[in-house]
Amino acid sequence: MTQAKTTGGNQGQVIWVTGASSGLGRSLALALADQGHSVIASARNEESLSSLEEANPSIIALPCDITDESSLRAAQEKISTNFPGLDEVILNAGNCEYLDFPEPDWSAIRRVMEVNYFGTLNCLQIALPLLRKSAAARPHIVVVASQVTNAPFARAEAYGASKAALQYFFDSLRIDLAPENIDVSVVNPGFVDTPLTRKNDFDMPFLMDVEDAAQRIIGQIASRPRSYSFPRRLRALLFISKLLPAAWQKMVSRDIGESVPASQPSQDSKL
Ligand SMILES: NC(=O)c1ccc[n+]([C@@H]2O[C@H](COP(=O)([O-])OP(=O)(O)OC[C@H]3O[C@@H](n4cnc5c(N)ncnc54)[C@H](OP(=O)(O)O)[C@@H]3O)[C@@H](O)[C@H]2O)c1
Repeated sequence: MTQAKTTGGNQGQVIWVTGASSGLGRSLALALADQGHSVIASARNEESLSSLEEANPSIIALPCDITDESSLRAAQEKISTNFPGLDEVILNAGNCEYLDFPEPDWSAIRRVMEVNYFGTLNCLQIALPLLRKSAAARPHIVVVASQVTNAPFARAEAYGASKAALQYFFDSLRIDLAPENIDVSVVNPGFVDTPLTRKNDFDMPFLMDVEDAAQRIIGQIASRPRSYSFPRRLRALLFISKLLPAAWQKMVSRDIGESVPASQPSQDSKL
């Protein structure tokens, strides 16, 4: 990061996207930069961040491990040295590990919470003072949670709990930041084709293209919704399945989250 830029006005916004080295974050960073915003793109994979900078000069790479205190301190210093404030932060970085019963790796729960919940809040802690310095009338916090919280998925105890924790935290935060005119939006994607879901060995209903998902998010968050869940078809399916008796619920969502036995490969394109 070498250039100081101003916030607000007609020059585009200053937007920090976490988890920008791949998947949704990468597509969001590129699409927002194409719209003329200055995008601070953070993640651990420096090579991938450099390629983003090469793709669009409005993107500034910020290598950072959101679970590491010294890395976060360095990131905070870099942002505040180079920008007077932030207009928007998209807290997108996340990870998914499943629990395989009957003998799950219990330490996975802590690892997932460390990135998805505590890591996201570490970034919020850095972003909030910078959002308060924004020249924009209403700075914006966007957090990427998940539709996984709409119904129980097999093996997703750790991941789902981390996203439910985020939803509650940011729904409460919205109330506390309202007097400061800082908006808070919770984005709940369904299944999107990214490196995170390519590890899944089960059928993913309504799997979406990553660029399409990023465009939908950008289009919707502009109006500052409290939450945005997409695609609606998945939300409806999960909502209905949650109201059904347990046996029927299992029928509706029978394949979601459950490993497909090697002898019965999924119909989904295994990516
Ligand atoms: N794909 C889906 O179907 C789906 C559905 C609902 C919600 N989501 C959520 O969407 C978000 C983006 O996921 P994705 O699907 O795009 O997966 P992805 O391609 O794996 O992206 C995850 C991003 O998080 C970053 N990250 C992970 N651990 C980090 C750490 N310790 N410090 C800094 N950055 C870290 C990764 O970068 P580095 O490895 O380079 O650090 C990467 O850029 C996640 O929060 C995920 O839970 C995804």
